[in-house]
Amino acid sequence: MAAIELSGNPQEHLAGVEGETLRETMRLIASPVVVVTAQADGDPRGATIGSFTSVSLEPPLVSFNVTQGTRLHDTLTRVDRFAVNVLAVEQAPLAEHFALPNLEGVEQFADVDHMIEGNDPPLIMGTLGALVCRPETRIPVGDHIVFVGLVIGVHPGKEGLPLAFHDGSYHGLGEPVGNQFESQSSLSDADRDLLTLVGSETK
Ligand SMILES: Cc1cc2nc3c(=O)[nH]c(=O)nc-3n(C[C@H](O)[C@H](O)[C@H](O)COP(=O)(O)O)c2cc1C
Repeated sequence: MAAIELSGNPQEHLAGVEGETLRETMRLIASPVVVVTAQADGDPRGATIGSFTSVSLEPPLVSFNVTQGTRLHDTLTRVDRFAVNVLAVEQAPLAEHFALPNLEGVEQFADVDHMIEGNDPPLIMGTLGALVCRPETRIPVGDHIVFVGLVIGVHPGKEGLPLAFHDGSYHGLGEPVGNQFESQSSLSDADRDLLTLVGSETK
């Protein structure tokens, strides 16, 4: 897509933007692709989530944003644990599947290789791993709810590369473009640990 031009009076660009302008800019930012799963009253639920990130190491906290009124939102308000399934690059069809609207929970999981134990959240097979979390905090922000989860367990997955989302499409990672991470001497140990939280603990 074309780069967004910053021309004219800069003040106009600082005065607030329409949602569509924000959406166009956010397309430039690559996001992770996970499937958040949970099970409320025996009814499994999952949704593709791109807003996932780590928040804190001590205590271990992660977060993601959920659209108000979705079935995932309803399920997450009724459970005491959920799972964050980290998709591998070859699992793009699963990301598409779990973003489909209007599917009942059982329909969502009918043809998906997964494991459910008791009331635990469904774990999708073939992922890079899964974090099991306890809901910690819910913060209504704009038209979304920020869910913060305390990570209480990690299920290791297979070796592989993660799926990413950028400019409206699913992507794999390209070749590394430099050892920038190591040379970030201004990064504190805590921030460095935070950046590697998912990458290192799910392998
Ligand atoms: C790549 C991608 C990322 C998404 N990220 C989010 C997200 O961060 N939060 C959210 O609420 N929905 C997100 N969605 C949309 C949900 O997957 C989808 O709307 C949801 O499954 C529908 O809600 P339901 O729970 O009622 O089925 C994303 C969809 C895609 C394809």
